[in-house]
Amino acid sequence: MSKNTTISEFKLVPGKILANRFSIVELLGAGYEGEVYKVVESHTNKVRAVKLFYPHRNPGFKVSSRYAKKLDKLRSSPIVMDYLSHEVLRIRGEKIACLTSEFIQGQLLGEFINKQRSKRLGIFPAIHLLYSIVLGVESIHLEGEYHGDLHVDNIIIKRFGLEFDLKIIDLHHWGDSKQDNRDEDVVKVIRIFYDILGGQKQYRKLPPSLKFIICGLKRTLILQRFRTISDLRIHLELMDWSDAI
Ligand SMILES: Nc1ncnc2c1ncn2[C@@H]1O[C@H](COP(=O)(O)OP(=O)(O)O)[C@@H](O)[C@H]1O
Ligand SMILES: [Mg+2]
Repeated sequence: MSKNTTISEFKLVPGKILANRFSIVELLGAGYEGEVYKVVESHTNKVRAVKLFYPHRNPGFKVSSRYAKKLDKLRSSPIVMDYLSHEVLRIRGEKIACLTSEFIQGQLLGEFINKQRSKRLGIFPAIHLLYSIVLGVESIHLEGEYHGDLHVDNIIIKRFGLEFDLKIIDLHHWGDSKQDNRDEDVVKVIRIFYDILGGQKQYRKLPPSLKFIICGLKRTLILQRFRTISDLRIHLELMDWSDAI
């Protein structure tokens, strides 16, 4: 899952000690807000993930502390990664927020799909995966929260079996209403379903029961059909999939 080609601003090399207690293993990813490293805690040898926030994207540590509080609020949701701590470190003289969480052993959903034959999932695995994502997102919405940036590279697959073991990372805070953001999550979940089924190339060939869910990706139609993520869950539980065999 590592992206060693990613350009790093912090440039923390393997073996470097962070916060007096973490040894850097590798850079996992770098995005708009900061960089995520795999680390090992000294004394306990526990593997963790730390997200270091770029200071210019995190004035007053607002972005990082909001993220930490949101993760903590969602700690009972099994699909959300476990939050451990938020602290401010000095890196080359600058104060940097460091958010520590569990390290999730698995594969990004996007990479997982790319490794499949024809770079897509079959109908039944896709429906099962959708159902697992829906259950996870529902647990976030029932806490009154939202994810805010759902796509195939913010979902890690831990286990692909009869049931999926998933974790969602990289939650966001946006200024507008939580209701609008929950709506956006519903639309994004359906977009993920469309993507894992092979996207535009396959859409025409899908059975009506799947097209009914995807609604041609039309936002208004999706939200008319599924007013909440729970509507979508109930639909998945009750619907007749026989045209998909
Ligand atoms: N807790 C974690 N366990 C394992 N890998 C992680 C964890 N958090 C992030 N990653 C990896 O780091 C990458 C970047 O993390 P993310 O939080 O999505 O930040 P961004 O997308 O803003 O760079 C992810 O795509 C994933 O590969
Ligand atoms: Mg991300």
